Amino acid sequence: MKLAVFVSGSGTNLQALLDAQATGALAPGEIVVVVSNKPDAYALTRARTAGVATELVEHRGLERAAFEAKLVDLLERHRVEAIVLAGFMRVLTGAFTSRFPQRIINTHPSLLPAFPGVDAPAQAITYGVKVSGVTVHFVDATLDGGPIIEQVTVPVWPDDDAAKLHARILAEEHRLLPVVVQRLAAGRLSCQGRVVRAE
Ligand code: GAR
Repeated sequence: MKLAVFVSGSGTNLQALLDAQATGALAPGEIVVVVSNKPDAYALTRARTAGVATELVEHRGLERAAFEAKLVDLLERHRVEAIVLAGFMRVLTGAFTSRFPQRIINTHPSLLPAFPGVDAPAQAITYGVKVSGVTVHFVDATLDGGPIIEQVTVPVWPDDDAAKLHARILAEEHRLLPVVVQRLAAGRLSCQGRVVRAE
C-alpha cells in the first residue's frame, strides 16, 4: 500500500516510520512521498536522506480548497492509497478527508478526546492531569475527533513542564505509530461505528 506522510516540523515521527520501513517493518506499506506545508521543516531533510520523494505545498496565500486541490493532485500523481499525518499542523476539511475514508491516520500527543488541537502537552500540564499519552486515530472532518485506533498512557510527573511531558509522549509515539501504520497497510484495521478493531 502506497503511503504519504504529511509533516510540518521536526519529523521525529517520520523518522520512526522511515526506520521501520528500512527494516521491512512497515510492509506491505511503502512511504512513497513526504508532503510538507512548511519549506523549512526538518522532516523534509529526513525524507531526502532516506531517499524518499518530497513535495512542498505551502498553505500561505491559498484558500483551503486550493491548498487541498494541490494535495489531491500530488497524491494522485504518486498513486497514494493512505495518508499518515505525523506532526502535520493544518486542519483538513471534510471535502479532503471524505476522499480517503479510513485511509488517513493521525498521531496526537494526548489521550483524546482530552486536549485536542495545538499544544496538547501544555494543555495537559495546565489542566493538572496526572496521566496523559498518545492517541493514533482515523481522521475525519472533526478536529482530532475521528475513531481511536490505539492509545498509550504516559505519566505526568510533578516537576514536568510541557517540553518534558512532550518528550516522554514522543517516545511512545515513535513506538506506536509504525505498528499502527503497518496494520493499516495490511488491511488489518476495521471500524464499526466509532469502534476500531485490529484483526
Ligand atoms: C507530535 O507529538 C505529534 O503528535 C504532534 O506534533 C508532534 C510532531 O513531532 N501533532 C499534533 O499536535 C497534531 N495536533 P515530530 O515532527 O517530531 O514528529
